[in-house]
Amino acid sequence: MNYNLPDLNKAKFRSRYQAPIIRDPVKLTEKQRQLGRGLFYHVITYGCQANVRDGEVISGILEEMGYQPTEMLEKADIIILNTCAIRDNAEKRVLGEIGFLQNYKQRKKSLILGVCGCMAQEEVVVEKILKSHPTVQLIFGTHNLPEIPAMIEKIMETNKKSVSVYSMQGNIYEGLPSRRSLPHKASVSIMDGCDKFCTYCIVPYTRGQQRSRLMNDILEEVRDLKESGYKEILLLGQNVNAYGKELDGNGDFADLLEKTAQMGIERIRFMTSHPWDFTERMVDVIGTYSNIMPYIHLPLQSGNNEILKLMGRRYTRDQYKELYDKLVARIPEVSISTDIIVGFPNETEQQFLDTLDIVEYCKYDNAFSFIFSPRPGTPAARMEDATPLEEKKDRLLRLNERLDYYSKIQNQKWENRTVKVLVDGPSKNNPEIYSGYTPQQKLVNFVKKEAAVGDIIDVLITEAKKNSLNGIQL
Ligand code: SAH
Ligand code: SF4
Ligand code: F3S
Repeated sequence: MNYNLPDLNKAKFRSRYQAPIIRDPVKLTEKQRQLGRGLFYHVITYGCQANVRDGEVISGILEEMGYQPTEMLEKADIIILNTCAIRDNAEKRVLGEIGFLQNYKQRKKSLILGVCGCMAQEEVVVEKILKSHPTVQLIFGTHNLPEIPAMIEKIMETNKKSVSVYSMQGNIYEGLPSRRSLPHKASVSIMDGCDKFCTYCIVPYTRGQQRSRLMNDILEEVRDLKESGYKEILLLGQNVNAYGKELDGNGDFADLLEKTAQMGIERIRFMTSHPWDFTERMVDVIGTYSNIMPYIHLPLQSGNNEILKLMGRRYTRDQYKELYDKLVARIPEVSISTDIIVGFPNETEQQFLDTLDIVEYCKYDNAFSFIFSPRPGTPAARMEDATPLEEKKDRLLRLNERLDYYSKIQNQKWENRTVKVLVDGPSKNNPEIYSGYTPQQKLVNFVKKEAAVGDIIDVLITEAKKNSLNGIQL
């Protein structure tokens, strides 16, 4: 069997190298363009925005092969699971889903089942799939998207498996096909990979070295999106603040934000900001341009200095608070959200209380909280851990109680005020009610008068809930 299998140990290699820029890497043969004619595909994406963006690229590639999208699994001729490896429970869910999809394979023998994304970068996972789920025929890694057409061709011709996962620093691909999922909001990946190596995190292993796209390539994509009528773009990277650090003479994230803002697209967002690389100028640029949305996701992870050090986060609680103060002072009506991990190996009750203390200080608009999950290959997974799981669960409950309290308080500030909402369309639960987001990234469900997807409208907020606002269109 001729497989390219993953190797997490190899994936952590870093050198001073300029990632090669490969333009138009997907070149289909005439035959590959016909392979999917009359056939249907379905991509299921888990995980972060980077994965969602990859899902759009995978869809784009499949459509160039002639496949059409379908929402119905039973109709699909190829189903691809685009997976996330960030925590163990995310992985368990995917393995369960693979088991469930066997039913479809039994009913339709020609169905191709594929697994890709961050889990495909882990050797334990790939071994398990090859052994326990033999009906999965297609496995490709996060660096292997351009190979999809050739891999599918091989499976169709031989009915054998095709497995290709590179554990490498990575390339920059420009001009990948893509099928965008929304008509008014678009993600623009400005960089891939991560070099921070927080000790608990698997992302630097699954996504490779930090590779920033050239400023001009990004701006060109934004220009195209604006011309196609997009109202909002999300500049995407694991650490957007570190954008451009490895490129000479290209400019940094503040430059990129400013140039994007000057292009006049209505709304600009960005994700994720690591507190470590947040410069004064970035704060000023965000505060200056009204089309850069006043919403910052600023992961805290822990409020205790010893734990932060063990996590490799490279800031202290005081530095975090100082940055928070600066953002609040210089960006009008900014909203701030965060990520927090409880139960890092040997975290004491006292250390956990330091985290709660920062929550009381920052009064987050929104937060994502997790129990530490040991990830294969990472330093934190090798640490002895004496804290019982029950105690970690209890900490998570106590933390969530405070986070929910502040989300509600922050939302109540908007009651009886008029806000600008970018309309997404009918809300999930009630087609009579429309929904959209405010500049502060607050979800608003509102009674509509005249609103279409992509409009920016005025809504009077009548009621604040924990996770959303209710209102009436004016
Ligand atoms: N690049 C972003 C984070 C991406 S991962 C940043 O640096 O902020 C999203 C979140 O998942 C992290 O912020 C962290 O809170 C959580 N996370 C990552 N690894 C984890 C692990 N091993 N266990 C529990 N939570 C984890
Ligand atoms: Fe993971 Fe840290 Fe990189 Fe974020 S900065 S992706 S938490 S290693
Ligand atoms: Fe998950 Fe990979 Fe994103 S591990 S969070 S999908 S980078």
